[in-house]
Amino acid sequence: MMKRILIGSDHAGFAVKGKLIGYLSSKGYSVTDCGTYSSESCDYPLEAHKTCKRLLDGEGDFAILICGTGIGISIAANKHRGIRAALCGDIFSAEMARQHNDANVLCMGARVIGFDLMKDICDTFFTTEALTEPRHIRRQQELAAIENGTADELCAAQDTEENV
Ligand code: RB5
Repeated sequence: MMKRILIGSDHAGFAVKGKLIGYLSSKGYSVTDCGTYSSESCDYPLEAHKTCKRLLDGEGDFAILICGTGIGISIAANKHRGIRAALCGDIFSAEMARQHNDANVLCMGARVIGFDLMKDICDTFFTTEALTEPRHIRRQQELAAIENGTADELCAAQDTEENV
């Protein structure tokens, strides 16, 4: 089944968001625009929150978030439990973000990279599967442990193992 993609941006990403919606829709993806809906100045943390909330509510399989650099909106996205947002400015990072990190949010900087590279990054991100080797699964579980406040226990267990 074709992936359902949610897409959000602040004012800096507004124009290219529209172009990406057109591109991804033409490739057959189901794309939902989560705002912002004009080029008027707005705040990237709240735009990230609106899109991430809808992703966590199950309205999409993945999300794209765009601000000027991609930095602010990725920081905001990663404050949500269950979000693994990756800021990508090249194709290799997009591939690794899916394979190693099972990233569910792709962040990009509209003032950093152009539309053509964004399209290539999207093509890679949305056609690459997460690897299922135990070390990758374990590291994703450790990310979740940081969110759940149980990472200290994992560190202590690791220290014990290293001392035997
Ligand atoms: C807005 O000017 C800019 O700060 C924002 O788009 C983003 O780059 C923040 O990280």
